[in-house]
Amino acid sequence: MTGTLLRIQQRIEKPCYSFPALPVRQIPHTAPWITDREIDSVKVFLKGGNIGSSRETLRPAEEALRNFTDGHPVLLTTSCTAAMELALRCLDISPGDEVIVPSFTFVSTANAVLQCGGTPVLTDIDDRTLCLDIASLEAACTKRTRAVLPVHYGGISCDMDALSEIAGSRGMHVIEDAAHALGARYKGRPLGTLGSLGCFSFHDTKNCVSGEGGALVINDPKLTGRAEMIYEKGTNRSQFLRGEIDKYTWVCQGSSYTMSAVLATILAVQISRYEEILRGRRRVSRLYREGLSSLVREGHIRFTEVPEYSTPNEHLAFFLVRDTARRDKLLEYLQTRGIQAYFHYIPLHLSPYAMKRLGTRPGQFPVAEQISLSIVRLPLFPQMPDDDCAYVIECVKQFFHPERAVNVPSENGLRSSPKPEIEPPDLSLVIPCYQEEGHLKNNLDEILKTLDETPFRYEVILVDDASRDGTAKVIRQYLENHPHHRLRAIFHEKNMGRGAAVRDGLEAASGRFAGFIDIDLEIHARYLPAALKRLVSGEADMVIADRHYPFRLPTLSRYITTRGYRFLVRTLLGTPAFDTESGFKFFRLERIIPLLKEVKDQRWFWDTEVTVRSHDAGLKISVIPVVFIRNADKKSTVRLLGDGVRSLFCLVRFMRERHHPHRRPNGPNILNYKA
Ligand SMILES: Cc1ncc(COP(=O)(O)O)c(C=O)c1O
Repeated sequence: MTGTLLRIQQRIEKPCYSFPALPVRQIPHTAPWITDREIDSVKVFLKGGNIGSSRETLRPAEEALRNFTDGHPVLLTTSCTAAMELALRCLDISPGDEVIVPSFTFVSTANAVLQCGGTPVLTDIDDRTLCLDIASLEAACTKRTRAVLPVHYGGISCDMDALSEIAGSRGMHVIEDAAHALGARYKGRPLGTLGSLGCFSFHDTKNCVSGEGGALVINDPKLTGRAEMIYEKGTNRSQFLRGEIDKYTWVCQGSSYTMSAVLATILAVQISRYEEILRGRRRVSRLYREGLSSLVREGHIRFTEVPEYSTPNEHLAFFLVRDTARRDKLLEYLQTRGIQAYFHYIPLHLSPYAMKRLGTRPGQFPVAEQISLSIVRLPLFPQMPDDDCAYVIECVKQFFHPERAVNVPSENGLRSSPKPEIEPPDLSLVIPCYQEEGHLKNNLDEILKTLDETPFRYEVILVDDASRDGTAKVIRQYLENHPHHRLRAIFHEKNMGRGAAVRDGLEAASGRFAGFIDIDLEIHARYLPAALKRLVSGEADMVIADRHYPFRLPTLSRYITTRGYRFLVRTLLGTPAFDTESGFKFFRLERIIPLLKEVKDQRWFWDTEVTVRSHDAGLKISVIPVVFIRNADKKSTVRLLGDGVRSLFCLVRFMRERHHPHRRPNGPNILNYKA
């Protein structure tokens, strides 16, 4: 390898990725909505000096919460997990007792049972509501079953009449895991108030938040005394505080479950803002449902049912995609778009711990397994801007419809590009293709991989110039199989030439920067970062590759022609010795679009013409040296003699035109053009 080639090679091995930071839209999965009201309330509380958790300091939050419990008493706890533990201890669940729990839930539901020494018995869920399945519940009941712990998944109610009937007929208690369900209702009655006991969560992902936190709702008055004693570390302090006894003492096994009063202060404000929060969540849910309804109609996704008896609280925004591989790709795709979308619980019966401790096995609860493999949860928080919802919707739609961005025929036989409704890419990479079936198959992945490693949001526009081999088919397959990439395609109905293919791609581009490379990768995509860096920094409006390759006998004629052509361009047109022919050119899009209309040649001379016109128009042109690796087995679509003669002819004609500027259609005004 010659010295120059070696130096270039070394530059390639150390690609420079220190780009100026580009804004990437980030949409969190959830975000607590904390206003000045919460902040001020904490300030006032702390300044008050009395910061311990007492009846007095917890009262505002308890009172606020009672509006959601039909006035039933509540005990504020450190978490919903703690509230469930407290509830089970209240019922004196102990070794030998069984408690029925859905498999599709958070570990806390089952852990709370184990913490009391009981055995959680897992069951399946209902495919329509994702709540505990009634038939599965019935089948799981034994003589040892003491309670059932249904989860109102996403704030959608379980079938409480059916469930309570089964529980009642067997003397079982119902403890509602209403972690998701504050403010949601069953037949008009608040969730959390329908079992003997109910448990809420105020973890920072929930509708009303205190960071960590929970509450136990006591619906069965017979349980109040016991609940209070366990809550008060096993003492009868509550009675003492009410003045019912003159001193308090240790009366049973208990623990410390009390919520911090600082958190209760935040919670009181959050609960007072419940309606405002719900309105925000409803707005986002409605936008999702409306925006994604076409995907439901087309059978790509489905929403679960909201039974008539249920008034949900919009805790989660989710849908189901039957094919897991597709679901996973969608999640991956949304991540690449800065959208935090997630799956949800791995069914508990599939966890190693449950298999070992409870003897569960895969396949035992098929609905829970299927749902877990198909669910997609979208970002949802009350203050989420409409714009962000629209972006999420658009991204989901584009995943299922990569062809949304594929162009449609217009009158002149070309295809025009519908403007994508999502954020424009930073870079549009045009890949002109003529009879490139093999190269596409071999090299497109490589190009995408290189682009993925840059910090750019990009789109790739494949232009098929009416190839007669399988190029168009490969492109279509690629679009279909790579929905998580932003790919578009333009299909020419008749062969229009390489220049026209690039031009159409550039005209369809929506990036700030755009350019093209040849799919044969004789100039490798790894030079892209270097080229883009020059555009981003403002150092250049146009970057062209300057090919370097070793002199070899089999390609002697080509070598001479290329060198000779370069010499002629420089001599006849008086420009610097650009390697105008190289299939690697990148532009600041707003600078090149106006010039495209001027370029007359649509075939191979297009490259020279566009370079020279850019130079004439005052674009800052930067050259990057590249190693050119000739594809030995490639059958070039450039016909050496024919195309060579044609290029010479074009060159002379172009030279004449440049010497007679009045013949140029738009000449000097070009720089004033505003894209
Ligand atoms: C269904 C369910 N139950 C209980 C919990 C536990 O809530 P916490 O974090 O307040 O203990 C969660 C947590 O999100 C949950 O999803």
